[in-house]
Amino acid sequence: GLGALVPAGFTMGVATSAFQIEGAILDDGREPSTWDTFMAQRGRIADGSDAAVAADHYRRYEEDLKLMRELGIDSYRFSLGWSRLQPGGRGTLNRSAVAFYDRLVDGLLASGISPMATLFHWDTPEALQHTGGWMKRDTAHRFAEYSFLAGEAFGDRVESWVTINEPATVTLNGYALGVHAPGATLLFDSLPAAHHQLLGHGLAVEALRAASVTGAIGITNVHSPVQPAGDREDDALFAELFDIVHNRVYADPVLLGRYPVIPEQLEHLFAPLREIEPSDLATIAAPLDFYGLNYYMPTRVAAGAPADASTPDGESAAARSLPFSLVPMREYSVTGFGWPIAPDSLAVTLTELAERYGEALPPVVITEGGASFPDVVQRDGSVDDEARVLYLAEHLAVAFAGAPGVTLRGYFVWSLLDNWEWAAGFTQRFGLVHVDFETQKRTPKRSFAWLQRLIGGRTL
Ligand code: FCB
Repeated sequence: GLGALVPAGFTMGVATSAFQIEGAILDDGREPSTWDTFMAQRGRIADGSDAAVAADHYRRYEEDLKLMRELGIDSYRFSLGWSRLQPGGRGTLNRSAVAFYDRLVDGLLASGISPMATLFHWDTPEALQHTGGWMKRDTAHRFAEYSFLAGEAFGDRVESWVTINEPATVTLNGYALGVHAPGATLLFDSLPAAHHQLLGHGLAVEALRAASVTGAIGITNVHSPVQPAGDREDDALFAELFDIVHNRVYADPVLLGRYPVIPEQLEHLFAPLREIEPSDLATIAAPLDFYGLNYYMPTRVAAGAPADASTPDGESAAARSLPFSLVPMREYSVTGFGWPIAPDSLAVTLTELAERYGEALPPVVITEGGASFPDVVQRDGSVDDEARVLYLAEHLAVAFAGAPGVTLRGYFVWSLLDNWEWAAGFTQRFGLVHVDFETQKRTPKRSFAWLQRLIGGRTL
């Protein structure tokens, strides 16, 4: 069956990001981002692929708009390519890039689909990496300048703004473990990259308001509820550490205006955060219209160095020197990525948000949720992704039920299209629509038809 009905006023959407779908990386004045550089390095991407063409969305966006209209979504979350709009990371916007996003935004509005734009979904202009990237405070100011210009260009039509997507992932995978761009392995010394993204977020909120945008403004953080693997004292300590570095370092400053309290034994690891400028926290805690939540999976943590040093996003030599490891949660079945399928943990995440942030928690929008599976097109042209239908049914049921103390406004499925999944290249398919990366043929999967019926059924 279809499960629960979509509640009244609940926004149903799909999400994508520029670098993962657009391709055309050298077209119309775009310049390299840190991911262009990273993907060209040997051994970085699981299948050795790159995103030069990706899902060719830059050329095929009309076809993709048509798919969205057929699906019947209320809102589409996409990202503005920073390296496309402001190629060198400073100065005026690139006019042909503005024209592209104008066509996209206007096409959405003409289709009755509300545009939600993410300003930064990981494509930092490479020119800014040459001056230290997010390890440097100046990048926060560069991001604010870009946000102001984007606000001026699209602020009359974009209905929701996400400043930064998953600053935790950029810090942990990009600067601490080196499995994402820019490939730094600084471990805890990466914390300035967290602080500068948070500062960039706060400055971007100011910049968007200064540009008089009409839409709602939020940030997107990825949350994973954390459990200790056993009942040894150190298991609990390191579970708390993981909760801090994955969840609280990003949520507490934004919602409470302070960094989390660090257990005394671990305080030395957080020395970089003691050197911040005190007024930064007021900037970072700028009031938001919504809080974006990406939920994929829970995490289980054990004390002691990992045996195989794998992270959710790949093998990391750096992870081997950590004093804790992530332990597989064998009671759950897993997605193609090996991620546990745990809708109950989405409920835990919502409850934790209400408990930790109380009145300080704005309305929540689940800006991403979804699953990868090795989908194939059958001889009859169908793609039977029953596991994804089940995943979405279970997670949407939790979202529709909500949680006390949380005003939940919507759910965006990751993703509309199969796309270039960062370090996993083309090996992980998250789409409601299958993409043949040889021919760029789009084939809606069974989950697409399922979601279409769910959304359509609401109005009956
Ligand atoms: C999230 C990212 C998104 C995609 C999904 C699977 O962490 O925001 O770009 O990679 O995971």
